[in-house]
Amino acid sequence: MSAMLEVSGLTKRFGGLVAVKDIGFTIRGGEILGLIGPNGSGKSTVMKCIMGIEKPNEGMVRLEGRDVAGWPTHRIARAGIGLVFQHSHPLQRQTVLEHIVLALLPDNLFMLTADLHVRRRAEEIAARVGLGGVMHRLPRTLPFADLRRLELAKAIARNPKVVLVDEPFAGLTSGEVADFSTLIGSFRAEGHAVLLVDHNVKGVAALVDRVLAMYLGERVAEGSAEEVMRNETVRRVYLGGKIETAARPEREGKGRTPLLDVRGVSVLYGKAQALEDVSIHVGEGEFVSIVGLNGAGKTTLFNAISGLVASSGAINWRGETLAGRTPAQIARGGIVQCPESRELFGEMSVRENLDLGGQHCTPAEAERQIAWLFELFPILQARQGQAARTLSGGEQQMLAIARALMMQPKLLILDEPTLGLAPVILELLSKALERLRQTTDITVLLGEQNVTFALPHADRVYVLEHARIVWEGDPARFAEEAGSGYL
Ligand SMILES: Nc1ncnc2c1ncn2[C@@H]1O[C@H](COP(=O)(O)OP(=O)(O)OP(=O)(O)O)[C@@H](O)[C@H]1O
Ligand SMILES: [Mg+2]
Repeated sequence: MSAMLEVSGLTKRFGGLVAVKDIGFTIRGGEILGLIGPNGSGKSTVMKCIMGIEKPNEGMVRLEGRDVAGWPTHRIARAGIGLVFQHSHPLQRQTVLEHIVLALLPDNLFMLTADLHVRRRAEEIAARVGLGGVMHRLPRTLPFADLRRLELAKAIARNPKVVLVDEPFAGLTSGEVADFSTLIGSFRAEGHAVLLVDHNVKGVAALVDRVLAMYLGERVAEGSAEEVMRNETVRRVYLGGKIETAARPEREGKGRTPLLDVRGVSVLYGKAQALEDVSIHVGEGEFVSIVGLNGAGKTTLFNAISGLVASSGAINWRGETLAGRTPAQIARGGIVQCPESRELFGEMSVRENLDLGGQHCTPAEAERQIAWLFELFPILQARQGQAARTLSGGEQQMLAIARALMMQPKLLILDEPTLGLAPVILELLSKALERLRQTTDITVLLGEQNVTFALPHADRVYVLEHARIVWEGDPARFAEEAGSGYL
């Protein structure tokens, strides 16, 4: 069978940076090509060039033999290419079902209330992606995984010949990854050509027919998943080693001085109970992980601690209540949260974002801190002058973490830091956290559903499920007592 999508000589430059260099591949109908590579290697840019969101400087993009390179996005979409973004920006006032109806009728907003047949079809699609029970809800009331389902539902509704899927598994649990794999597999079964980007190496390997690996904009390997994962360069620049940690630093009295004490905290969003009678404590120098599925309440708990959402119950910091303090006062008191949503200043450069984080340090301290962070994340140094919003997904995550570290927190709260990071960067981050613990008195509160990252570092683990703490204990006992559904 001939190629449905054929890309050749694709090159994209941003000023002096060659983000994509002479990339070429073909995908037949009924075939899934995986595209892997470290953060910033150009994967999303390849997708954007195919979709016409970025104009390639050179190269050809053929859809069933017709070159569409350089066409405007809406024409490319109409010709039959669809992109499933990692971040969804749903409309605020349309329900889930209405979003799918709109996707079924891309050119005709007036038909929203129309055709019964279209509604039926939309309902079918909602059911197929597992949104059957929430069809009439507004997207902002949905948990993260359901928003990702909505993006897939829209892609199914538009029915493009070529589907580009950017990081569908990010932030999903292993069970959700399995669901999504089935859905993406059904694109293949129906004869679509699929290009899949994700950092979940196992998830990608299990699903794809072939893999193309990129590094610094260039192709480094292509073949079966097994061949590519065995490739020396791929191992070195992308996969890295296994996450290992040194023995817990047993500092004298670690954990004995209480720092944070959360007692009986509840949060309501309207009628929805986001946290129910949650109690946790963190002692000085401890590393505490909160493990929980999407929507369990991790972010709400962190936001309550940081003063960003109102809560009932008591939150004490170094023996004093945080009630009545503003988020800024809480942060100045030493609690620094690196939020899941990153909250970078998009128009400001990498360096400016970091400088803001270091505002309260002396210039010499800030200099030292920045030098250390650049050593930790060299790519941030290379991208110093670039506007934060143009960074790749993983680069933004690194910047968010680095900015939090710039503030030299006493308690660092990391909310899903592994989101969108390449395996090799996870290893780096893991080493950095270990080094921080060996050399400073930093205390860490980590929220993760990725237990392979959350467990090795932790002194203690809490499991948060449906707004409640359901387990607390030693990471060594986690697998046996609380692991089902996470491992
Ligand atoms: N508009 C832009 N201006 C300048 N540089 C850009 C722009 N867009 C992307 N880049 C740079 O191009 C490189 C490739 O980015 P891209 O988003 O394609 O990476 P990626 O492989 O998708 O990475 P990730 O896995 O982190 O999502 C990055 O280093 C990024 O900073
Ligand atoms: Mg990307």
